Amino acid sequence: MAIERTRVCPVELASSLDNKIRRWLQNPHAILAPYIKGGMKVLDIGCGPGFFSIEMAKMVGASGQVISADLQQGMLQELARKVKGTPLESRIIPVQCENDKINVSDEVDFILAFYMVHEVPDKTSLFKQLRVVLKKDGQLLLVEPKLFHVSKKDFESTLEEAESTGFKVTEGPRLLLSWSAVLGSTAAAA
Ligand SMILES: C[S@@+](CC[C@H](N)C(=O)[O-])C[C@H]1O[C@@H](n2cnc3c(N)ncnc32)[C@H](O)[C@@H]1O
Repeated sequence: MAIERTRVCPVELASSLDNKIRRWLQNPHAILAPYIKGGMKVLDIGCGPGFFSIEMAKMVGASGQVISADLQQGMLQELARKVKGTPLESRIIPVQCENDKINVSDEVDFILAFYMVHEVPDKTSLFKQLRVVLKKDGQLLLVEPKLFHVSKKDFESTLEEAESTGFKVTEGPRLLLSWSAVLGSTAAAA
């Protein structure tokens, strides 16, 4: 079957986002451990087939919650299929986003935006919406792919858009073939 070339990663490529090789190169627990604690409510924006959401659900524990949000129903279905009948199922709240609307209103302690922001045409609007739902002392881990998709200049311009909405940008963790930054809320909301 031919894969349609769009800005958005097609559902047909879901398996390339969740496999053993990626788990070895980008261990989700190791990446998320500095940011997620038991009992937190967290958001995985552009969750895809749930490579990170599933680990997030384990890390927040039975008293926590993961909002897994994606534009594509097919990605959310993949994630639902993986957790069906497991204790993680009730900790994951699936949300279907619209092109320019995250459709999330709950306040969260932490947001992960992994390899998704470059797929969003209006990044300023996305960051504004994420600012609204991130708690005052919350953190957003932003990670973008170096290979093929995002140049250094592109990433710097993404960070400028984030700053223009009131996010404070600090250095992120060193991750293979990726750009990263940690965004926090500042006192003056945009
Ligand atoms: C390359 S995938 C990354 C998935 C996941 N974060 C990961 O690292 O495995 C990008 C995901 O972002 C989603 N996406 C793209 N634009 C979006 C938008 N405006 N709102 C929500 N999700 C979006 C796509 O549907 C896709 O599932």
